[in-house]
Amino acid sequence: MEVFEAIFTRRSIRRYTAEGVSEEVVEKLLKAAMVAPSAADERPWHFVVITEKDVLTALSQGMEHCEMLEEATLAVLICGDESLEKIKGFWVQDCSACAENILLAAHGAGIGAVWVAVYPLPERIDLVRRVLKIPEQVTPFAVIAAGHPAEHLPPEDRYDPSRVHYQRW
Ligand SMILES: Cc1cc2nc3c(=O)[nH]c(=O)nc-3n(C[C@H](O)[C@H](O)[C@H](O)COP(=O)(O)O)c2cc1C
Repeated sequence: MEVFEAIFTRRSIRRYTAEGVSEEVVEKLLKAAMVAPSAADERPWHFVVITEKDVLTALSQGMEHCEMLEEATLAVLICGDESLEKIKGFWVQDCSACAENILLAAHGAGIGAVWVAVYPLPERIDLVRRVLKIPEQVTPFAVIAAGHPAEHLPPEDRYDPSRVHYQRW
């Protein structure tokens, strides 16, 4: 898929079929995540790949409004590890770049996905930490819920020229 087509047609997909995501695609998503830009190329991230139904169910039931994780056949938890940062304070931006790369790569591979916020919500951070046994120095950042799409949403044109300022505000 051409890059502008991927960007302009990606939507958050929260309904999935029962078909699993192949290991080959999972590896592509992880490679897309890890090639994301990061401050000083520090790559302060870790990933937890979840395909086990009981774990997806535990996450879905432990977090409010996360029913999509019940149907998802894949979830990738993106974590930030501040101990990997020499220049402090950029891990959230680095992990966000990762998340968008995964969403676009998934879309390009025909997989539906949605960014499920974890950081900075204390209850979700605690729940994810407990269920997935995340070490103390690592912060669960976001879950990308994914699977073969069982819904198709149309592209939206959100271009708003009133938010664009040229040369000066
Ligand atoms: C930082 C961030 C956190 C989000 N958290 C959630 C979430 O917890 N649950 C959810 O269903 N969608 C979540 N989303 C997806 C947004 O709701 C979605 O991107 C937005 O409504 C625009 O729709 P689109 O992705 O289809 O273009 C999140 C998106 C971002 C960028």
